[in-house]
Amino acid sequence: MAAAAPADAVRFGWIGVGNRGTSLLRAGLGVGAIEVTAVCDLDPQKTGRAVDFVQTARSRKPAVVTGGPDEYKRLLDRKDVDAVLIATPMQEHARMAIDALKAGKHVISEVPAALTVQECWDLVRAAKASKATYMMAENVCYYETNMAVLNMVKQGLFGELTYGECGYVHDTRYLQYTPEGKLTWRGERLNQPGNRYPTHAIGPVSHWMDINRSDRFVSIASQSSRAAGLADYVKKKFGADSPLMKMPMAGDSNISLLRTEKGRLIELRYDTTSPRPHPSTTYHNLQGTQGSYRDEENRQDIWLESRSPKVEWEDFKKYLAEFQHPLWKKQTGDQYTMHRGADQLMLRDFANVFQEKRESPVTVLDAAAWSAILELSATSVEAGGAPQQFPDFARA
Ligand SMILES: NC(=O)c1ccc[n+]([C@@H]2O[C@H](COP(=O)([O-])OP(=O)(O)OC[C@H]3O[C@@H](n4cnc5c(N)ncnc54)[C@H](O)[C@@H]3O)[C@@H](O)[C@H]2O)c1
Repeated sequence: MAAAAPADAVRFGWIGVGNRGTSLLRAGLGVGAIEVTAVCDLDPQKTGRAVDFVQTARSRKPAVVTGGPDEYKRLLDRKDVDAVLIATPMQEHARMAIDALKAGKHVISEVPAALTVQECWDLVRAAKASKATYMMAENVCYYETNMAVLNMVKQGLFGELTYGECGYVHDTRYLQYTPEGKLTWRGERLNQPGNRYPTHAIGPVSHWMDINRSDRFVSIASQSSRAAGLADYVKKKFGADSPLMKMPMAGDSNISLLRTEKGRLIELRYDTTSPRPHPSTTYHNLQGTQGSYRDEENRQDIWLESRSPKVEWEDFKKYLAEFQHPLWKKQTGDQYTMHRGADQLMLRDFANVFQEKRESPVTVLDAAAWSAILELSATSVEAGGAPQQFPDFARA
């Protein structure tokens, strides 16, 4: 049923209403504190679809901004827009976020925040110079299980954290090419070595380890396997004579080892071109001095020295109710369920930051440190796995 947003709702402009932007729009329209006053996309069919969603949910039409790749700046000029959600291809995220911050608009940006270390610096500086708030939309940090583990870490149940193991292993070969055999925006990046999509994996582990608060990443060393998965796929789908067969490809599986200032170690895997089923696209494991946690293939287990009756893994569900994060406790039953309900929770949390005068839950320093992995892992792969130092973005 259509329901108007309250007068103090945050007025959003949605930039990019393709697959992800539309999914987030539908989740956002279920959050009372979010009003959608403008939508923007290169494709008028997509803005038309977005208008219909807003009209159905809120009985009002948002303004439409469409046209060329710089038209989003017209949305940034609008006085009825307080905040923007950016869900365009990742090549566009940094410049759009920086322009929005300069225009005094709050930003929630899809992942990754930036593609290069220079863009990360530029973004951190723009956020520092702006009164507006920046958040990276790392929804995996909002999974109920990941937030419960954060709660347990804060209560000391794992003791001192020493090691994390995480990955994004998601067969996305079908997203790399159009049906006619052209590269999509994802496909255009297939020749980039290293980890091209690190934030869903590193985000929760980074929050558990208090990175950018009491610890920070200092170095990364990265290696990749040979590239074979896509050649096989392209041959089957477009034929052995396809020009795509000649395109240089980065390796299929990439592993990075990150060290933190406090001496913690994180193993981070990335693979989006190998065939496999994936009950979950991510995994997150944690080791502390008093317990361990593992979340693989959407199954979560825990072992705590102080509580587990035997030296055997226990089903994490046993602990979920006791350690459920306060944000999840407040969730209502009618949530939009995409990504385990995390998308809507994330958007509600961002909208509430302003009323509750809190820090961004995924700060610009998180966004920069996690996104810098793209370039630093690529440089390390090209240097035969040689460790690369992380810039200290807090010094911006
Ligand atoms: N957090 C998640 O779980 C998750 C899931 C999927 C995608 N993503 C991220 O979301 C982003 C979008 O992915 P997608 O799958 O929706 O892609 P998509 O191609 O379906 O949508 C992108 C949209 O942006 C529009 N666009 C491109 N350039 C533009 C410009 N200059 N101005 C205005 N509109 C522009 C396109 O027309 C398109 O509609 C990516 O960065 C991706 O990494 C995140």
